[in-house]
Amino acid sequence: MAIILDGKALSEKMMAELKNRVDALRAKGKTIGLSVILVGENPASQVYVRNKGKACEALGIRGDTILLPEQTTQEELEALIIKLNRDDGVDGILVQLPLPKHLDETKALRLIVPEKDVDGFHIENAGKLFTGQEGVAACTPKGILAMLKAWNVPLSGKEAVVIGRSNIVGKPVAMLLLNENCTVTICHSRTADLAAHTRRADILVAAVGKPRFVTADMVKPGAAVVDVGINRVDGKVVGDVDFESVEKVAGYISPVPGGVGKMTICMLMENVIEAAEKKVC
Ligand code: GUN
Repeated sequence: MAIILDGKALSEKMMAELKNRVDALRAKGKTIGLSVILVGENPASQVYVRNKGKACEALGIRGDTILLPEQTTQEELEALIIKLNRDDGVDGILVQLPLPKHLDETKALRLIVPEKDVDGFHIENAGKLFTGQEGVAACTPKGILAMLKAWNVPLSGKEAVVIGRSNIVGKPVAMLLLNENCTVTICHSRTADLAAHTRRADILVAAVGKPRFVTADMVKPGAAVVDVGINRVDGKVVGDVDFESVEKVAGYISPVPGGVGKMTICMLMENVIEAAEKKVC
């Protein structure tokens, strides 16, 4: 049976450490602010945004959620981002994705000043990650690495396979694993013989968006399997990994819920605190 990469327990421990950093800033008279912009009424996004607000509250960070109607124009969204860029009380700006189809996501994200880009989605921060410079790394990839390291999963020289090539998870997590000296393969929907790749993986990251997509026959015995999926099936949240069968083969496995999701929010809080600390120094 695999060891559980318990994101809930780890995030609780890390949140306690983050609280100390917030308190230290507050002792210097500094308050910390995160502004989250949500356009439209995507139910999944509403849940994520609510959870981010709760995490802010738990740490004593001012979390402002700005709800904009579905029909918001690009100009209106950009005007808000510019206003928040200039607001000294705002340390981090997060535009919840996906945006409604009529809005230009890339353009909006590029407008956030890189110092306040706590998602690490700005092209400057993404570029820094890809060129090995210090910048803000995306929260889910950072959370995945924190989990692997907390459980001392060997990384250097190991085969890592990432399923999914999104800018939010697949590509940045591949870069973080590469920076840890893994040999990294990125697989995607056009990959020929996916299972041949996944069966070689010592570390397998599933960010596919398909419920229970990764099955036991696709996993190398003893592998560390990290499940990034959040899929709703018959009212239940399930991951991209078929947990029941894979936990019998894997060496480590992250559950859904209680795995990567918890770590993502924790890493967001860390990025916000880091942004505030940099401003103070
Ligand atoms: N939508 C899904 N995941 C994320 C995330 O990590 N950040 C933002 N801004 N939107 C998301």
